[in-house]
Amino acid sequence: MALERTFSIVKPDAVAKNLVGAIYQRFEAAGLRLVAAKMLHLSQEQAEGFYAEHKERPFFNALVSFMTSGPVMVQVLEGEDAVRKNREIMGATNPKEALAGTLRADYADSIDENAVHGSDAVESAAREIAYFFTDAELCPRTR
Ligand code: TYD
Ligand code: MG
Repeated sequence: MALERTFSIVKPDAVAKNLVGAIYQRFEAAGLRLVAAKMLHLSQEQAEGFYAEHKERPFFNALVSFMTSGPVMVQVLEGEDAVRKNREIMGATNPKEALAGTLRADYADSIDENAVHGSDAVESAAREIAYFFTDAELCPRTR
């Protein structure tokens, strides 16, 4: 299995509920390593650009409004099968459908305020990482 990188966001609802450490704990417990992280308050332009694939969807304006409503943590996670593993840790988009023990089952209130983002494929991960981080900000492990 290949070492992969994926992109993750702790969304404004989860930051507001003081869940950053609890969520990072889940990543680390699953063997995913942080290789970059920072707190940001997204601008409207940043949020619209990040979610451009959804711009024709009925929930787009509400999504951008939510994602700019408070600070987020953005991070790059590295590990074996990282993209799929992170999606598994997150659980389904709708917390009502998320398996017990997943982040969204435990921490999300609704489909539109669902605690975390995670890339859905290796290709989107590369694009999303580059959207928020320069190569110099990525810190590969040396031990
Ligand atoms: P999507 O990429 O389908 O889900 P995921 O985050 O699991 O990859 O949608 C992006 C975000 O858009 C989702 O996390 C929350 C929001 N959203 C809604 O608010 N309503 C919806 O019906 C859907 C499908 C998504
Ligand atoms: Mg998605």
